[in-house]
Amino acid sequence: MKKPVIAIDGYSSTGKSSISKVIADKLGLVHLDTGALYRGITWFALQHCTEDNGSIDLNKLFFSLGKIQLEFKNNDGELVLYLNHEDISKEIRTNKVSENVSLIAKQKEVRDFLLQSQRSLAEKGGIIMDGRDIGTVVLPNADFKFFLTASIDERTKRRYTELISLGIEADEQQVKENLIARDKIDSEREIAPLKQAEDAVVIDNTYLTKKETIESILSFIQKI
Ligand code: DC
Repeated sequence: MKKPVIAIDGYSSTGKSSISKVIADKLGLVHLDTGALYRGITWFALQHCTEDNGSIDLNKLFFSLGKIQLEFKNNDGELVLYLNHEDISKEIRTNKVSENVSLIAKQKEVRDFLLQSQRSLAEKGGIIMDGRDIGTVVLPNADFKFFLTASIDERTKRRYTELISLGIEADEQQVKENLIARDKIDSEREIAPLKQAEDAVVIDNTYLTKKETIESILSFIQKI
């Protein structure tokens, strides 16, 4: 039997990636965190495509996209993102990347660059992909679609705790402002905005633990 294709979209810090990882392990699926790909391109741009004042030179980035090779490697059960053979898993979580990633993710050239590889990965089935436009644009025919949301205060708390646990310095108010700014740019952009697919199951996990959210997704999948 063909394994399912599952799309998980939603707002920043609703737990999409960590939840998808657990579901992938339980159901024997591959997990792709598409946000990490946009973060990887942003990290590349910050290293190689900046103006004298430090801002990103978008045209330079567009010309350089062909030089970017992003791949996930399995390091003791953890999927680690490599950019041109260099481990960038920690770099992509820094504030600098979070502050710039929505600007990069709204560019058509960047989205086109990533679209086909995301779709090819799903061709054989057996994948859970999380992001913002998976159910609407990348995999509109996914077998299951979920859309996660939670209150801004709860999401701030989760993101702040995650940063601290990664050893990254953080300020709660700044984390909140970054989440609000990213949600706004991600939802209002012209190409592939963050929005719920009409046929997605919406889960508000403000008052749910990670385990409860996973159970709710699994019970839906197993029912069908
Ligand atoms: O999931 P995340 O916070 O790591 O994603 C980082 C950014 O990438 C997010 O602000 C929006 C963008 N993104 C996107 O536009 N489309 C996706 N499928 C995944 C992420």
